[in-house]
Amino acid sequence: MTRRSDFRDLAPRLLAWFDRHARALPWRAPIGVARDPYRVWLAEIMLQQTTVPHAAPYFEAFTQRWPAVEDLAAAPDDEVMRAWAGLGYYARARNLLKCAREVAARGGFPQTSAGLRDLPGIGPYTAGAIAAIAFGEREAAVDGNVDRVFARLLALKGDWAQEKKRIAAEVSALVPEERPGDFAEALMDLGATVCTPAAPNCMICPLTEFCAARAEGAPDRYPIKPAKVAKPVRYGHAWVHMKKGKVWLVRRPPEGLLGGMLALPSALWQEGSAGVAMPPSDADWQEAGEVRHVFTHFTLRLAVWHAEVSRNPAGEGVWADPAKETGLPTVFAKALALSTGGKIRRR
Ligand code: ADE
Repeated sequence: MTRRSDFRDLAPRLLAWFDRHARALPWRAPIGVARDPYRVWLAEIMLQQTTVPHAAPYFEAFTQRWPAVEDLAAAPDDEVMRAWAGLGYYARARNLLKCAREVAARGGFPQTSAGLRDLPGIGPYTAGAIAAIAFGEREAAVDGNVDRVFARLLALKGDWAQEKKRIAAEVSALVPEERPGDFAEALMDLGATVCTPAAPNCMICPLTEFCAARAEGAPDRYPIKPAKVAKPVRYGHAWVHMKKGKVWLVRRPPEGLLGGMLALPSALWQEGSAGVAMPPSDADWQEAGEVRHVFTHFTLRLAVWHAEVSRNPAGEGVWADPAKETGLPTVFAKALALSTGGKIRRR
């Protein structure tokens, strides 16, 4: 680790930059105005694993429909799952509801990072972010953006797992007594808009004088991480039953991947090869093609089959209008679009 200069002035410099360049995002309030913990929490959950531009319209839709945590707590599960469709990582939506119900039952959010961590779906990062942003607790929120910023500031060259621990300790020590939430969001904004993964814009960075990687001359060399292992490929089949322009949809079992979500009937999802799958009903099945979708732990290659049917397939399901259905997870929306020549339906 190379420390270019001491970091005493880093927080004031960063906050002064934030005062001028903070992104106007739907979950933020003007600087100095108290933030609603419900909106902060909802945004942080949506932003776990999802980019700001992708999450923003969902945040607007959720807060218009369910303006307070009590409203969300009272919502039926399937409506929330449907509204979440397209955001991915559906365990987040199930935990979101559990958490909203627990908070509503308690009469409000716990106001400390330690208290927040007891709630479903809230880990150390999210707890720190909410505590700092909503309650002004002197807590750090270190995500991938912040890791990158500090890997550069300190020109970290060691084992990445160890270096991340060091970053967490450095950031914690730097969080100011005043405006800890703005400090957290300022680091996020700096990482997202200036200290970007490729081609960081050091010319406009408020922290250049502190930055060891910049002094070395090649800041985009950092962070130095171990090479990613390739994801395994799984193969599956999905069936698009069409009747009078409607498509047959089923609900996935409550737990597991895409749990509780609307879906096309599908099978296998196995490694190795596509194999032969038994269609859920007898029909003149035509292969529409293949869609690929990347999940956290594997890539899925899904063979999509299409048939016109005159009777309901066996088991529970519903007929839905493909042009209006917005409740499908992206992988099934892609499969349906491929099969019907339509567009992926999203809000
Ligand atoms: N990413 C995670 N939390 C965020 C926030 N509050 N503002 C901007 N980006 C974020």
